[in-house]
Amino acid sequence: MNPKAITTERDARVMRLYEQLVEIEQRLIPTGLPVFGRASELPEKADLLRMVASFDRPEQGARALQRLVADALGVESYDALLHETSTSETRQLIDGVAADAVRQCCEHGVETAVDWLISKAGVDSEESRPTFLLIAKVADQLDANNEIDSLARALRGEYIRPGPGADIVQNPLVLPTGRNTHAVNPYSVPSQMAFARAKHTADALLRRYFEEHGRYPRALALVLWGLDNIKTQGEGVAQALWLLGVRPVRDALNRATEIEVIPLEELRRPRIDVVMTVSGIFRDLFMPTMALLDKAVRRVATLDEPLDMNYVRRNVSEKIHADSSEFDDAVTRVFSNAPGNYGTNVNFMVMQSAWENDATLGDLFVTRKCFAYARDSKGRSVEGREARELMDDALSRVEATYQNIDSFEVGITDVDHYFEYLGGISKAVETRAKSRPSIYLSDSLSPQTKIRSLEETVRLETRAKTLNPKWYEGMLKHGFRGVAEIENHVANTFGWSATADAVDPWIYTEISRTFLLDPIMLDRLRELNPHSLQSLARRLLEAHNRGYWNPNEEILERLRDIVEQQLDRGGTA
Ligand code: BEZ
Ligand code: MG
Repeated sequence: MNPKAITTERDARVMRLYEQLVEIEQRLIPTGLPVFGRASELPEKADLLRMVASFDRPEQGARALQRLVADALGVESYDALLHETSTSETRQLIDGVAADAVRQCCEHGVETAVDWLISKAGVDSEESRPTFLLIAKVADQLDANNEIDSLARALRGEYIRPGPGADIVQNPLVLPTGRNTHAVNPYSVPSQMAFARAKHTADALLRRYFEEHGRYPRALALVLWGLDNIKTQGEGVAQALWLLGVRPVRDALNRATEIEVIPLEELRRPRIDVVMTVSGIFRDLFMPTMALLDKAVRRVATLDEPLDMNYVRRNVSEKIHADSSEFDDAVTRVFSNAPGNYGTNVNFMVMQSAWENDATLGDLFVTRKCFAYARDSKGRSVEGREARELMDDALSRVEATYQNIDSFEVGITDVDHYFEYLGGISKAVETRAKSRPSIYLSDSLSPQTKIRSLEETVRLETRAKTLNPKWYEGMLKHGFRGVAEIENHVANTFGWSATADAVDPWIYTEISRTFLLDPIMLDRLRELNPHSLQSLARRLLEAHNRGYWNPNEEILERLRDIVEQQLDRGGTA
């Protein structure tokens, strides 16, 4: 290679590294657990408010602060800038001014911030005031806490005023805490806003798959959760509709019960087949939405279009020709638990180390989730009919699996539910399609949607949380519970090895180094919570025994020592 090419290659690598660092730096990282009845002592409050300020809030007449600054500075296309890179100088300038403006607002109040922004960037006061008023209101409400008071009132049988349930950044109206939360009217889902956002995300998902494979996926498996669709007014639902190439239509009572087919000329890509597994909570809350999704698949399957532009039709007709299936069977795509049942149990099987062959985890997922919800060609409603073969068949065509993440507070290693669902379905696809699917997550946590592979997401979560002193020191402040949280994170990370083989070996090595091989940290953990410490060491040994990681003998010895010492001290076996 000539010297110039080497320099260019080196610069490109440094740039990629820099972008990754900025990505971790910009991520909101919870630095401790919520304590019931205590107002959040948020060292990261300014960061949170900066994120709140970065979204347009048309319902409150407030525009994104960054956008106001960009417009006033004469930046031509702020959207293009957002989608291009996180590291351009212009973008850093805009983010810097916005961050300082939020600080001005918190420290000196709305009017000072308005004046400050006029002097710094020439933003019109009428434009910026609604945004600063919103920031000030959210800041006040973060300092308030009605939880104990509301609990006492609830116990006295008094009325607690309800509020929406969502992530603070998604919807600041969730504050103050200490209220009942209400769901959404299922007939209102998906909202127009959710549909607009879903288009971006689903397009980005398809673009990513196309870049990696040179074509579109023949079928995608989506995980849809109830709470997420409440929080986002149905963004996951809207993504499914957009992938199919349809949009929701309101009936005379303004209920989203109909669909309209988007012509292929407008869609300018094939209609993607989607297999939807919905949680038990989703099924309970969104029955009309399940009917809408089922209706959409059926409509698309009957469109008179070329098979290479309509993958639903192609897959359905293939199945009918292959084994003389009925149309109603071949077109079944909406699955959930049996009525009254919840969850996949894949998390329990992993946590209890109760499997030998990986395929068992995918089989368990299908056993729990193979209940079809539909309305057949005769208009009869099918509510939870066991349909294992149909689910096996639908999954055998899947080439990518996907779930939308929409919360700052809960990521894929914080709880065991992400790996039980997305990991579970991916493992089920792997054995049925005879090939591991590409696994993606979207990050609608910032105004620019980001699609990441599962492996990238595990790396990012590990660096931003598990291995980040800011995060684990925040947890350790909670003593016994904090160590249990760290152990949970490691166990959930392990869940991604078990279900999806998505964890780089260095992650286990660094976890060992950070928590177990450092004698000072080891003593702290032992002092605070010897049980979780032992589980942590055991889990790492299990990761080795199952072939997810192959550390040197010295590390293994240390892990075994920790488990044995704990046993000698009377820890649980
Ligand atoms: C849901 O909202 O559907 C859900 C919540 C927690 C775990 C699994 C699903
Ligand atoms: Mg749970």
